[in-house]
Amino acid sequence: LCENLMTSPRLWLIVPAAGIGQRMRAECPKQYLRINNRFILDITLSRLLDTGRFTGCMVPLNASDHWWPESDASNDNRIQTCSGGVERADSVLSALHALKEQVAPDDWVLVHDAARPCVHSADLANLVSTLMDHPVGGLLAAPVADTLKRADFGGLPEVAETVDRSQLWRALTPQMFRYSMLFSALETALQEKQPVTDESSAMEFSGNMPVLVEGRPDNIKITVPADLDLAGFILSRF
Ligand code: CTP
Ligand code: MG
Repeated sequence: LCENLMTSPRLWLIVPAAGIGQRMRAECPKQYLRINNRFILDITLSRLLDTGRFTGCMVPLNASDHWWPESDASNDNRIQTCSGGVERADSVLSALHALKEQVAPDDWVLVHDAARPCVHSADLANLVSTLMDHPVGGLLAAPVADTLKRADFGGLPEVAETVDRSQLWRALTPQMFRYSMLFSALETALQEKQPVTDESSAMEFSGNMPVLVEGRPDNIKITVPADLDLAGFILSRF
């Protein structure tokens, strides 16, 4: 048991926060908007770190970020920062680089969007316990609820067809993969100019099949202005 404890892979957290929140059209990047007078970034980080599951945490920040020093997180010695990149995948890769000296190849890395403050600790626990012994890893996801239409290109978009949603899921975060596999998958996918909007897509491009772990559909990514009130409401119900 003792040996098992010592060799079991550890969990690391990466929270990419280097985006500018273009679609939010706010006066600052959306992770620095406030809900109940706290930065979204602070809410997200404390919800995850207070579970006590992580050995360390890396937060990639935008080079022109001048809000970080005002965050609670900047005074939290559990959190390290590094510089982000042009795309989300570049920011995650930069964080993986920054963790290099601290991690073992098989350690788990959980990547979670700064803009998802509504993540629930029960979903995190379920993700980790489901995947802990899995060779590849996976992600929180939710089955698509709405009927889906594919649009034709045009002035007024018209329905080209209705898409079968029975096998379709929304990819959420955290996404949980082993350090060395994720590192090489991201490097390869970026070199090959693949569209990499999440960690899973990089892993898929490398030929892996990440596991979809069903999570709460209210783990929303704050993206457009209306999402801010919605997130405030969701958080008030926890
Ligand atoms: N992110 C990042 N580095 C980038 C782009 C995004 O670390 N170059 C982070 C964002 O800060 C966010 C998460 O990745 O926490 C998800 O990205 P998204 O929701 O697209 O945020 P933004 O890119 O900031 O928003 P937008 O696409 O509307 O500009
Ligand atoms: Mg973006």
